[in-house]
Amino acid sequence: MAKEKSVFFCQECGYESAKWLGKCPGCGQWNTFVEETISKQKNEAVRLLPSSEPIGIREIVYDDLLRIDTGIQELNRVLGGGMVSGALMLLAGDPGIGKSTLTMQVAGRIKLDTPILYVSGEESRQQLKMRAQRLGVENERLFILTENNLSTIEKQVKKFQPKFVILDSIQTVYLPEISSAPGSVSQLRECTGRVLQWAKGLDISIILVGHVTKDGSVAGPRVLEHMVDAVLFFEGERHNHFRILRTLKNRFGSTNEIGVFEMQERGLREVHNPSEIFLSERPQGAVGSVVVPCMEGSRPVLVELQALVASSPYGQPRRMTNGVDFNRTAMLLAVLEKKMRLPLGNQDIYLNVVGGLKVDEPAIDLGVIVALVSSMQNRPILDDVIVLGEVGLTGEVRTISFLEKRLIEAEKMGFHLAIVPKGNLKREQQYPLEVRGVGSVAEALKAILGGA
Ligand code: TYD
Ligand code: MG
Repeated sequence: MAKEKSVFFCQECGYESAKWLGKCPGCGQWNTFVEETISKQKNEAVRLLPSSEPIGIREIVYDDLLRIDTGIQELNRVLGGGMVSGALMLLAGDPGIGKSTLTMQVAGRIKLDTPILYVSGEESRQQLKMRAQRLGVENERLFILTENNLSTIEKQVKKFQPKFVILDSIQTVYLPEISSAPGSVSQLRECTGRVLQWAKGLDISIILVGHVTKDGSVAGPRVLEHMVDAVLFFEGERHNHFRILRTLKNRFGSTNEIGVFEMQERGLREVHNPSEIFLSERPQGAVGSVVVPCMEGSRPVLVELQALVASSPYGQPRRMTNGVDFNRTAMLLAVLEKKMRLPLGNQDIYLNVVGGLKVDEPAIDLGVIVALVSSMQNRPILDDVIVLGEVGLTGEVRTISFLEKRLIEAEKMGFHLAIVPKGNLKREQQYPLEVRGVGSVAEALKAILGGA
């Protein structure tokens, strides 16, 4: 007989404790511990990797990983060039963001000639059929299983031998031998462990769908993130139809690629040229708006930065940023106050990156400064100018990376002039558009606003 033991788990981070605790020492959250019983049954030894003998690195033969085309280019890129066979991936996101839609579209388009199994623990066959119809999914190799018991699912997987499985969602399945409720830490851990065995043992690519908690982490424990090969986050704002797919972890590729989608009537449309959408509603000749080419992974994306500086009616001026780092902005404001002698202390300041994108690279510093000054002094910035540069504490403009790539993208989108760090410019180099090098914030403002 298997022995049963009772332990307490933090439902936020998976911290394990023998007794109940009010505050979790792992993540600092209050009142998150729940008692769960785990059976002390010895885990059957799972052998994921074949050899246990050391081998010289030069003797290992490397053949390229087998990549499967998912039929969705944006997803292929985020995964590092397609889905690796036998990979276990976690697709996480807020409820209603479009996880089931994305996975159903993948199931419909993936280039595989073996059966595909879509397991849903959340929706009925009718609901799934309705979505499939709406998305135009008619893949004859796609099979649907509505089931919550993971042991039953396992039997079907072994019988059916699919090469691609979607499990929607990991929080709704359970193993009967564990007495805790579906979605609890021990269920999540054991279920993911089991699914990992299918992936590695039977060479099946698996996408697990996972919900996230209020604070944006994958619901349940972090352990889930450690077990899978890749963690993809699907995000966006509810009232805006753009969706961004990011990688938080990827054992088979880079983690800073993004995929951009637009949610439409008939599912998700891939957006191959994100600059276009992020600039689509840009006002002409507006005050406080500037375009900056940002790097999202290996891809340059033009984004519009907007600043609003207005005198503050109350003693305590407001500072709000959306999409850019708050502290970095505070630093840039201090540079403007001290170096450019701009009285910002009694002004409300709002900064926004249009389209809900988050930019965290210093190359946007100069753009932030230019937008702020433009708004404060009510002087519009020319429509066809982009601004690039990191700003230091003495007001100097420092060099940035990937200048060429950013300029090419800007030129493609119809921009004619780029204000860039002086240090980036090389003599005798041809640039795709007119470039003006600046060494300081003062020079930049002069170049773009005609003297500050
Ligand atoms: P869904 O994929 O069910 O979200 P999740 O699985 O992440 O909870 O999709 C949720 C929203 O997407 C839903 O509000 C309806 C919308 N939607 C469309 O706008 N167009 C479509 O073609 C589909 C299938 C859904
Ligand atoms: Mg869903």
